[in-house]
Amino acid sequence: MKQIFTILSLALVLMSCSKEVTRTDIGIIPQPASVEIYEGTFNAAGAAFEADALCETVLNAISTFENNLVAASGAASGTSGSKFVFKADQSLGEEEYTIEVSAKKAVVKASGLNGFVYALESIKQLLPAEIYTGTPSAATCWCLPCLKIQDEPRFGYRGMHLDVSRHFFDANEVKKYIDIMAIHKLNVLHWHLTDDQGWRLEIKKYPQLTEHGAIRKQTIIGHGRDRKGYDNTPYGEGFYYTQDQVKEIIDYAAAKGIEIIPEIDLPGHMLAALACFPELGCTGGPYDVWGRWGIADDVLCVGKEETMKFLEDVLAEVADLFPSEYVHIGGDECPKVRWETCPHCQAKIAELGFKDDDKHKAEHYLQSYVTNRMEQFLSTKGKKIIGWDEILEGEIAPNATVMSWRGVEGGLEAVRMGHDAIMVPYTHLYLDYYQSKDKENEPLAIGGYVPVELVYSFEPFTEDMTDEEKSHILGIQANLWTEYIPTDAQLEYMLLPRLSALSEIQWCEPENKDYERFLGNMESMRKIYDILGYNYAKHIFSK
Ligand code: ACM
Ligand code: ZN
Repeated sequence: MKQIFTILSLALVLMSCSKEVTRTDIGIIPQPASVEIYEGTFNAAGAAFEADALCETVLNAISTFENNLVAASGAASGTSGSKFVFKADQSLGEEEYTIEVSAKKAVVKASGLNGFVYALESIKQLLPAEIYTGTPSAATCWCLPCLKIQDEPRFGYRGMHLDVSRHFFDANEVKKYIDIMAIHKLNVLHWHLTDDQGWRLEIKKYPQLTEHGAIRKQTIIGHGRDRKGYDNTPYGEGFYYTQDQVKEIIDYAAAKGIEIIPEIDLPGHMLAALACFPELGCTGGPYDVWGRWGIADDVLCVGKEETMKFLEDVLAEVADLFPSEYVHIGGDECPKVRWETCPHCQAKIAELGFKDDDKHKAEHYLQSYVTNRMEQFLSTKGKKIIGWDEILEGEIAPNATVMSWRGVEGGLEAVRMGHDAIMVPYTHLYLDYYQSKDKENEPLAIGGYVPVELVYSFEPFTEDMTDEEKSHILGIQANLWTEYIPTDAQLEYMLLPRLSALSEIQWCEPENKDYERFLGNMESMRKIYDILGYNYAKHIFSK
């Protein structure tokens, strides 16, 4: 009896293993929506390439893949009797793709750029990691399993944020960041370009913003809360992007299916601008580009019409430069103390008839007034706005999308009101937080604790959400604030491997998420990190 039981349980284990292997052994992150694996393999080395008359960007992506395959495998195209076929299929969704691999043919179908680049990404992840660099590989097998993949993302907005104000990352570093996003099928870079500690975007009408506003005289040493003083070293000379560089980065990202949404954080987090134009503050200054972290009381004086003119001039250039549907206007952490005593701000409050009520102060309505004006202005440029969840205070601008960072509550409130929302709660998705409890052995970070597993566990829908409300959750993003990230190597360390976990919560339907399977697949992803020379945190890896 005992023996029968043992045999039965062994059979059950084997059955569940083989089922598990079929679903998970594929090793692609993020896990594709549907994978069927068949017997047999396709030899990619030496395969010929055949493509419909696809757009130039897709053909370039295919050709980069082909060149890397030839270089890494050492086999010229068309020498093995097998072939890749790329076909346009307009019946597929905008980001959907299919791959059908049989012994002699691998057929890829998509309706547009994103579908094709995601298909190529999936194929690359099935091959030896040298496919990413084109360096000759010792791998003897360039085989794809015979399979069918049908894949498309759960969310249309799959973002990653980058703060380049607190510490600057140059154009090449930003491109590398985009490469990492592309490997994971993200499609939005939220570029936080301005803040108290440095203005990083060339504005032709106001060159002072980058000549002066990019530079802080000094930076606080260590953690802000430890009050260890300042380093007495200027930071930021030349640390900004010219508009030509921005165009190049936008094109670079677009070729990988990534849109860049610029953020001009207003009306708070504006000390860098105030240092250039003190007349735009409530007190008239003088102001310094900030050398410490936190929330400054000095914000733009929004009672003055000249402030609106400044903002509109800046946003006009931003709108012309960035092709994105959205401009992020910030709106977070804007103290109201200056406005409370400023004659200009109080006159504006009186003029517009704002009053304190049981929910908000008159000054919150004053912030809503600025947000509203910027929304109206940007709509004349064909743009919609995104704001941090503080834009819900007072009265939300009619068409604004809410980026919910102080938890998910702001996003829930927004979707209940019929607004769109993007979930970025600091509890799960702030990658500037520690990723290990052993803080002594980690680089200094702002605080908190967001390990890979916590990122992976995030679910933006709540049980009581209606389908209508769910349809307003555009997607998920993680944020990377850089107060405590002075180098590019540390940026990679904070990003990886948490970005891999992020990609699955953005891409996979909940039933396709499985942390154990994800961890197993991370061993293949790790080879990609290694060959690309990325500096990643090792906590989730066995050694
Ligand atoms: C934020 O973290 N201040 C949006
Ligand atoms: Zn004022």
